[in-house]
Amino acid sequence: MSKDALWRLGNQYVGAPLDPQDCDPDPIVEFRAWMLAAVAAQLPTPNAMTLATVDEHGRPAARIVLLKEVDERGFVFYTNYESRKARDLAAHPYAALVLFWEPMHRQVRVEGAIERVTPEESDAYFGSRARGSQLGAIASPQSRPLPTRRALEDLVASVSRAHGDSALPRPAHWGGYRVVPDMVELWQGQPSRLHDRVRYRRIDGAWIRDRLAP
Ligand SMILES: Cc1cc2nc3c(=O)[nH]c(=O)nc-3n(C[C@H](O)[C@H](O)[C@H](O)COP(=O)(O)O)c2cc1C
Repeated sequence: MSKDALWRLGNQYVGAPLDPQDCDPDPIVEFRAWMLAAVAAQLPTPNAMTLATVDEHGRPAARIVLLKEVDERGFVFYTNYESRKARDLAAHPYAALVLFWEPMHRQVRVEGAIERVTPEESDAYFGSRARGSQLGAIASPQSRPLPTRRALEDLVASVSRAHGDSALPRPAHWGGYRVVPDMVELWQGQPSRLHDRVRYRRIDGAWIRDRLAP
């Protein structure tokens, strides 16, 4: 693809004005309203978010994960505790999240410390998943090289055979992480790139908010 073609890409953004004074003092309350609006607008996979981590050498990496819970404690996703992201988080227990809802001209950024959810919380979510997803979570050595796709299918078949029809227990290598936010930014696209940005920071336990230049 040519540079010119890329230069021509890009939208004019427009949305209702976003002002710090009109936002809820609690960014989680505001975020939940934004997520409900994204769901109501029937956006595809509105809970997909980019998760950025940093490894032991300070090298960043990013990938998509799905937001599965959000409350006053933070933003939860589920994954393999032996994956590359898990190794990064063991070295540096901080993460950043980005959600982009293009049709609504909205972006959300979250930053904060990482903690594991409790085993009981992971059990509850694992138990809610389809059996095929449970088998995959048990069998897949996420982030490790595989010689062939067949090798992965064999791993899944062997886990399936071992358990028969019985309920599948959550493996110790799989569970949730919570990003405990100390920064949340809501971005609303506006014409001529004069976008609205509302930043929340948690300082001494209290949320303060301000407006940032686009
Ligand atoms: C739409 C979408 C949703 C995904 N959701 C998850 C998820 O919730 N958990 C997860 O571990 N990987 C998820 N993945 C896969 C990750 O992007 C990534 O490939 C995987 O977690 C391995 O990342 P790592 O090697 O950096 O640890 C998703 C990928 C896509 C495209």
